[in-house]
Amino acid sequence: MHVAFHFESPGDFKRRFLSDSIAISIVTPMDNQLPNDAAPLSQLPETHMESIRILESAYLRHRDPIKQSGFSGGTDRWRTERFPLLDAVDGDGDFIDLGCANGHLLQSVLGWANERGINLTPYGIDLNPRLLQETMKRFPDKPDHFWVANAWGWLPPKRFRWVYAIWDLVPIEYLPHLARHLLQHAVDRNGALILGAYGSKSEDWPSVAIADVLREGGVPVSGVSQGGELPRGGPVTRFAWVRRSDWQPVEQHLPSPCDCCEQVK
Ligand SMILES: C[S@@+](CC[C@H](N)C(=O)[O-])C[C@H]1O[C@@H](n2cnc3c(N)ncnc32)[C@H](O)[C@@H]1O
Repeated sequence: MHVAFHFESPGDFKRRFLSDSIAISIVTPMDNQLPNDAAPLSQLPETHMESIRILESAYLRHRDPIKQSGFSGGTDRWRTERFPLLDAVDGDGDFIDLGCANGHLLQSVLGWANERGINLTPYGIDLNPRLLQETMKRFPDKPDHFWVANAWGWLPPKRFRWVYAIWDLVPIEYLPHLARHLLQHAVDRNGALILGAYGSKSEDWPSVAIADVLREGGVPVSGVSQGGELPRGGPVTRFAWVRRSDWQPVEQHLPSPCDCCEQVK
């Protein structure tokens, strides 16, 4: 089956950690595509790692907290395009943002949840230490809730009810493996893994069809939501979530502790 990734050409795609006009576009070759049930590579490609490292100075050039999170569409669109991820969150608990940047999304999510009477406790990781420091400044009473870490292969010290990640933390062909790893090691029994994909309204770019990517990779999708509207029609952002209760680890993914942990150092 074919998954529509909405990229510019079949061989290349543009990676965008910055949705909308704070644009850094990195063209990544897809010749290292993984079959869905192949063992994951032990490390992320160096080109990908470099594309993450450069975000630190790109984000911290700005003082506006939204721009420091990689979004330049302003406060109204920030809410319109991000709020629908809350559709997955139906109760109190720990919420971790994998790739939390300066923590502004985390802070927003806590406030939005509160409007719905839901009480969330913030946690986060980011690969970039200076960005993580910005997050920690937002939550000065929770210094032990934040870690400099790579989501790929991360073995968390505890489980979290709600685990949020955007798809571009890893090359897209790694995403189903990342999802399985997080469901196995990070998501609590009564929780869910929530994945986000951001397009760009100003550039009229659709987001990745995240639910299709997961299903294609053998990961069941419990629910979806979307936010904003592109000039060409269709959503700007898409979210898909997998409830831990809907996910059955396939035996081949679970020799102890699990094959992705065996592979990912
Ligand atoms: C676009 S920002 C997202 C901020 C916020 N989570 C949001 O959704 O608005 C992406 C962040 O993810 C971090 N990041 C990217 N890949 C990562 C990885 N594999 N592990 C940990 N952090 C990563 C980057 O350093 C950057 O701060």
